[in-house]
Amino acid sequence: MKKKVEQISFKARDIISIQDLTREEILYLMEKGKDMYTEEQSGNRYTNSLGKKVLFHAFYQDSTRTINSFNAAMQELGGIVRGFSGKEGTSVMKKECIRDTIVMAEATHADIIVMRHPKDGSVQWAADVAHVPVINGGDGTNEHPTQALLDLFTMYLINNDKLDNVNVGIGGDLAHGRTIRSLCAALSNFDDITIRWAADDILGMPDDVTRCLKKRNVAVIRHKQVKDVLRQVMFYYMTRPQFEMMSGNPVENQKKILKLLDVYRITLEKITGHNFKLMHPLPVNSETREIDYQVYFSAQQHFFTQAENGVFMRKALLDEILEGTIYERFTGILPDEIRIGNNRLKRRIKARRKEGRFIDNIHGGIVLDHLMPKTEDKVKETLKLACGDCDIISAYLHDSDKSFVKTSVTYLDERGLKMVCMCSPDPTVNIIHNGHVHEKYVYLLCRNDNCITRVLEEDVPPRFYKDDGNIKCRYCRHTYEVSNPNMAQFERKHFLATLPSSVIPVGK
Ligand code: CP
Repeated sequence: MKKKVEQISFKARDIISIQDLTREEILYLMEKGKDMYTEEQSGNRYTNSLGKKVLFHAFYQDSTRTINSFNAAMQELGGIVRGFSGKEGTSVMKKECIRDTIVMAEATHADIIVMRHPKDGSVQWAADVAHVPVINGGDGTNEHPTQALLDLFTMYLINNDKLDNVNVGIGGDLAHGRTIRSLCAALSNFDDITIRWAADDILGMPDDVTRCLKKRNVAVIRHKQVKDVLRQVMFYYMTRPQFEMMSGNPVENQKKILKLLDVYRITLEKITGHNFKLMHPLPVNSETREIDYQVYFSAQQHFFTQAENGVFMRKALLDEILEGTIYERFTGILPDEIRIGNNRLKRRIKARRKEGRFIDNIHGGIVLDHLMPKTEDKVKETLKLACGDCDIISAYLHDSDKSFVKTSVTYLDERGLKMVCMCSPDPTVNIIHNGHVHEKYVYLLCRNDNCITRVLEEDVPPRFYKDDGNIKCRYCRHTYEVSNPNMAQFERKHFLATLPSSVIPVGK
């Protein structure tokens, strides 16, 4: 194997998004995985010792491959596995939050945690809480980085150890699948990549993925028919419909998608005469049958090999992350970063005489300003829920087409602020002391409904960072154009971190 270049180090790193890995790092893992693959092929299993290191799997969603592949990898490396697969039988059923479950994983001596969860950004939050490395085993519709690594590894082995100049077709449900999102991002590290797809709009490639790929010089081509894609690709990556991630009526969704799949299903007839390798992250849905059973016996079928390749990739990754890490005694103390609050975008406090209209009748309390027009009643109800009995005055201002709410409460916690945001986004919060505005800031909450920051019970403080001129949610990485007036103000502020892993201090 090629000698590791100086800057490549996975030691003690979190693996949350495939976007955090460079081309060189991906290629390094491919080579390491290939060494392990070659040894296995020759009848010798790669069994480096991870001593008695412990992998804890926290799988809040079902899994067959990812969990077992990680467990196989860890055990073959000499480590130990424990954890849970599915919420049933755990204290998650008693409403234990992610933060506390992760601390418990550490309390039972985890050296590394692999987590899967239905909410976007949940694994980044677990990584913020944990002192040990955390690997994303799939978070909501967001990412599945180790799946992307094993997908690339399969292509790498077939394509004579190369990942440049690859022509891939993608099919099935492009809209809701995290595997496609991660695979596309992973491929964009390489040169001369073409991605072709044909799907109905509701299953089509998300616009943000297409935009991102084009920015990275990937050719993204939408075809009218699947047969036009199949004619021109080296790999065809089929996916199942992700019903569990679709909004709306599940029965209606199923009916609609089944009808569409008649067009998109991969059958023996469709693949005959072509040379592409058929991939699928699995599982295939046995009701929708997006891949016909006859295809399983064709030479083009590569999805079971792809699943086995996952063991080599995960072995390579675990070996790199854990090798040489030193056991640190559990202290039970949470990292300081997670105490640090939200992205409060401070506004300069204007001259007091201009504040009169907002703070008259109020000596101490909170004024929520710049609320969406006519949301004041909803916000008022929310505040009563969040703060109990308190004096509240609310109004809609015709001249500026906005609403505001004044309350006598002097403290509104993160959860209360989030509840307000769900009624009216980006409120300006004025903290009033002795009849003066003591503090003034805009409270920002990610707009992605499936983002972990929007789950009130989880207490995840919203955070954003700047990336390539846009603003991104630290957790789900949902991108905001800076043309959004409130987000645009980030441009002029210094407190915004430029790296996702940085901590954003309050109100600097
Ligand atoms: N590919 C994949 O993530 O499979 P599982 O859901 O079985 O883990």
